[in-house]
Amino acid sequence: MNKKYNVKFFPFESTVSVSSGTSILDAARKVDLFLKTTCGGKGTCGDCVVRIISGTYQSKLSSALSDELIRQGYALACQTEVNDNLTIQLPQFQELSIKSVSDSKFFEEHKNKISGIYEINPVVKSIS
Ligand code: FES
Repeated sequence: MNKKYNVKFFPFESTVSVSSGTSILDAARKVDLFLKTTCGGKGTCGDCVVRIISGTYQSKLSSALSDELIRQGYALACQTEVNDNLTIQLPQFQELSIKSVSDSKFFEEHKNKISGIYEINPVVKSIS
């Protein structure tokens, strides 16, 4: 039987329990976090990059991610399997990409945690 691990995604604080060996990309999808994935999960575009804050992990090598970013804890979500409890920070551009899925239930529940989204409530109103 596959062991289960918790994966927590910040800034949304969404947590999902997944079986060992699940990719971070699939874990994110389970909580309706649709990361940008231009190459479709082949490990070539680098768009699905995330930063792993805690937990041990192992990623397949990819030229889409520099050694410097790897040293800083960045990993490609499509090339990294969950084999521990992980805490993951989504880069701001991923937050903005998620914002484009604006009709999702996830967006409605978390829109206050996504950077650059404001409720419009102007002090001045137009009267015609
Ligand atoms: S989706 Fe392209 S590198 Fe992961």
